[in-house]
Amino acid sequence: MPVNIHALLSAKIHQALVAAGAPLHCNAQVRQSAKTQFGDYQVNGIMAIAKQLGIPSRQLAKKVVDLLNLKGIARKVDIAGPGFINIFLDLQWLADHLLEAIFSPRLGVATVAPRTIVVDYSAPNVAKEMHVGHVRSTIIGDASVRTLSFLGHRVIRANHVGDWGTQFGMLIAYLEKIRTGSKEKIQLSNLEDFYRAAKQHYDKDPVFAEHARSYVVKLQGGDDYCCRMWRKLVDITMAQNQKTYNQLNVTLTCADVMGESLYKDMLPGIVADLKAKGLAVESEGAIVVFLDEFKNKEGKPMGVVIQKKDGAYLYTTTDIACAKYRYETLKADRILYYVDSRQHQHLMQAWAIVRKAGYIPESVPLEHHMFGMILGKDGKPFKTRVGDAVKLADLLNEALERARRLIASKNPDMDAAELEKLAQVVSIGAVKYADLSKNRTTDYIFDWDNMLNLEGNTAPYMQYAYTRVVSVLKRSGQSEQQLTGVITLEVEQEIQLAVCLLQLEEAITTVARDGTPHVLCTYLYDLAVLFSDFYEHCPILNADSETQYQSRLQLALLTARTLKQGLNLLGIEMVERM
Ligand code: ARG
Repeated sequence: MPVNIHALLSAKIHQALVAAGAPLHCNAQVRQSAKTQFGDYQVNGIMAIAKQLGIPSRQLAKKVVDLLNLKGIARKVDIAGPGFINIFLDLQWLADHLLEAIFSPRLGVATVAPRTIVVDYSAPNVAKEMHVGHVRSTIIGDASVRTLSFLGHRVIRANHVGDWGTQFGMLIAYLEKIRTGSKEKIQLSNLEDFYRAAKQHYDKDPVFAEHARSYVVKLQGGDDYCCRMWRKLVDITMAQNQKTYNQLNVTLTCADVMGESLYKDMLPGIVADLKAKGLAVESEGAIVVFLDEFKNKEGKPMGVVIQKKDGAYLYTTTDIACAKYRYETLKADRILYYVDSRQHQHLMQAWAIVRKAGYIPESVPLEHHMFGMILGKDGKPFKTRVGDAVKLADLLNEALERARRLIASKNPDMDAAELEKLAQVVSIGAVKYADLSKNRTTDYIFDWDNMLNLEGNTAPYMQYAYTRVVSVLKRSGQSEQQLTGVITLEVEQEIQLAVCLLQLEEAITTVARDGTPHVLCTYLYDLAVLFSDFYEHCPILNADSETQYQSRLQLALLTARTLKQGLNLLGIEMVERM
């Protein structure tokens, strides 16, 4: 049986606490210990519970320890300070579980009861290039998707592409113009320029604008020509985005596109239903839902427009329909949105309406996994020197160039083809890891030197650490099948590494619950550092005995596999040599 040490200890301690007179809902607060002298796990909740019970906390701690049955699991249980409990795990118990992990393809990580989880991420807009917000959503969302899938959930990737709205009249009219007119040849490969030029024509040329407006009406009426032109715009954009996904090693495909247009036929019904339920009312010609929980500047309930005076629907209307669809049609048990923090209020309003209308029961969570901005070193939004938004393609090119230099400086004799391949993997890894390793809720500072540093919590460090472990295994000349299945833990560095190796599931479970890949990054980084410590203090190839040699080799093997699996869940590739 795979083991989740945290879950196991939490259950055991809770049991002892209740037996000691604590209430059933008490929180033992079991944590991985920050310092070795506090054991492998510590219990922090005793003081608060003792206070509730009105007894001295050390007395409660003592009672809990007496009632606690950790026979065969812990080698020592200490009480420290006012009533902390420190647990030191049994070495044979650790060894047994490590062996299980080594012989399991899932490294000892259990699968869970599967739920259907819809993950809304990436969501770029048609005829526009992905901006930083989309890039963060893509990278973080994909790590979350990989993690949830690994645990055994049914994950539905929903790429909520901005493919509908009044701007399409203008875009179609402009696409038509550049296809027929020979003078204005704008490369459609530069979507940003295309959009800007279309907008310029729309703003300056009244005839063009009139034409564009007539196309909006036609498109919404299902006109064949307009629909074909619209499709073209969507296809060109998504073909370009797909290249980016592939380059970034992101698992999204064209089959995951569920753009705003998917919900257009639901919108009249939603508005009618919200009116019938008395939630939506007419206000100055528009249809509005007033929400008590959001106040406007005058302190009155905020009005959320769901249909404009001219009949047009809004971004919010679509998000109401889309949430409903995800529950009713996709049968979601949980819905996650990787969307930039500036859209928080928008989502909260849409979901408040969804709940009031009874479209989704409270038991199905709607979660906004928001993220902050990427800032330049000056602390201002990350821009090019002339103040434009940084293009992803340029950013990846620069990363590649820097990675080439980094690798060439380390390996002057490496042949060009290998160097190129390595530089690809390292540069993509560096850009992604820089994003993934930071707590997503805060802004983060984009810093080339940092992300390509071979020291510290960076992709190159992790990739390099992996090659080091692999090289030890290679030098042993022993194939995996020959490993004997013996683990003996004697030295402190071995024990530390062993405990960490058994904590993969805890890290993965946290990422799955909170959508915070940085927790997995931190875990893997700690593991790499512990391995490096272990490697320094515990000779492997020159071990004292055959048993010790075999045991250490297996710790190295499990470290290599854990690093590879963990980084794979983050969407970061490994190399065998660096
Ligand atoms: N396309 C939107 C944007 O660029 C993001 C969509 C996020 N998802 C959603 N369900 N609203 O801002």
